[in-house]
Amino acid sequence: MAVSENYRLNTAQAYRASILHFPEKSDCPKQQYQFIEDGLLVTRNDKIEFIGEYKNHINQYPEAKLYDYSGKLLLPGFIDSHLHFPQTEMIASFGEQLLDWLTDYTFPVERKFADPQYASHIAKIFVRQLHRHGTTTGMVYSSVHKQAADALFQEAASHNMLLIAGKVCMDRNSPDWLQDTPQSAQQDSAELIQKWHNKGRLKYAITPRFAPTSSHEQLHALGELAQQYPDVFIQTHLSENHNEIAWVKELFPERKNYLDVYDHYGLVRKGAVFGHGIHLEQSEWQRLQETQASIAFCPTSNLFLGSGLFDLAKAEQQEVPVMLATDVGGGTSFSMLKTMGEAYKICQLKGNQMDPMHGLYLMTQGAALGLGLENSIGNLNPGTAADFVILDPEFDELSALRFEHHRTPQDMLFALSMMADDRAIIATYVAGTAVYQSDTFTTKGAQ
Ligand code: GUN
Ligand code: ZN
Repeated sequence: MAVSENYRLNTAQAYRASILHFPEKSDCPKQQYQFIEDGLLVTRNDKIEFIGEYKNHINQYPEAKLYDYSGKLLLPGFIDSHLHFPQTEMIASFGEQLLDWLTDYTFPVERKFADPQYASHIAKIFVRQLHRHGTTTGMVYSSVHKQAADALFQEAASHNMLLIAGKVCMDRNSPDWLQDTPQSAQQDSAELIQKWHNKGRLKYAITPRFAPTSSHEQLHALGELAQQYPDVFIQTHLSENHNEIAWVKELFPERKNYLDVYDHYGLVRKGAVFGHGIHLEQSEWQRLQETQASIAFCPTSNLFLGSGLFDLAKAEQQEVPVMLATDVGGGTSFSMLKTMGEAYKICQLKGNQMDPMHGLYLMTQGAALGLGLENSIGNLNPGTAADFVILDPEFDELSALRFEHHRTPQDMLFALSMMADDRAIIATYVAGTAVYQSDTFTTKGAQ
């Protein structure tokens, strides 16, 4: 290890900025935020050591290296709770709704991930895109190929990221060149769990693509695996599109509803994240509430694929945990800020207003709580990982004008969700190390 790196690891790092996060570890009262206008965040090695007022506390850290981001905004690293790594290159593909879009664009692209070298190449781009958009944790679908998942985990491990990912399992109603079997899905997933789950900060998610592409036998095999590994995550799609829902009814006539297909096989529990959940029946809301399984709300994808308008107010009322997510490549941006802006617009169309603090909560502490990872990510409490992001609210001429006279945290966050993207991200830190720094901004102190 280089001498300078040694010095960095053992020395406290002090960050001066306006700091905003949700320190509460229980879901109640929701969205109780802490805002420190002239704040100090101190990290040591990979953890947060202190958070407080800059002026009152900087003297306690005379040895710390100071990064002066005065006037900028420091937030917990964003959590993107649902996205597809092999779909990075097919983002923004024209014209189809879900089922045709899968056939015409998605499956042919995912086929390329049979080549581990190609998977490694895209994994690097994918992780770079996360970091330049301020995302420090993703819950990620890989392709059906075991080696592609290896490539993604390898890349995340090289940055010491908390990444949750899984090999997609699919054994029917899809091209035969993209299928596994019940046995190989169970075995490959088990091997990946043993290799990667809880290795460093990495976590595994059992990942049936969605009910239509898994046979009863495959869902049964994955249910067995879920029982064998009670602390692994689960992710799949649920109730995204009307044709998809009708298809599930045809394929599983014996089940009460779409969620009941997964429930029957033991795949509904806390730590299970269901993408979309746009057209749920009352009994499905009820079951999600009972189990505290989560929904990933993917607004840019839902608009892009014409899937429908998620009912966030209903989810709140039903006390179902919700997380925000991009769903790249059905989603049209890696930016969680933009995603939050589109979530607001969907709520407007449903006749509700999503408070900007609520939006931030759904991509930080709310997501961490839903995943049971609040002791590690989602907030800036001492002892958690030093995963955070620094934003420049005045990232261009128009935003500078917009923020000249309006700088409450709510207003800043709201306007950023409407106007900003990766241009507003100055730096992203994972486990105390800068994994991304904008080349148009340098702090006094940052190299
Ligand atoms: N349902 C099954 N697979 C997919 C996918 O890759 N993206 C989306 N948005 N929905 C799906
Ligand atoms: Zn998806």
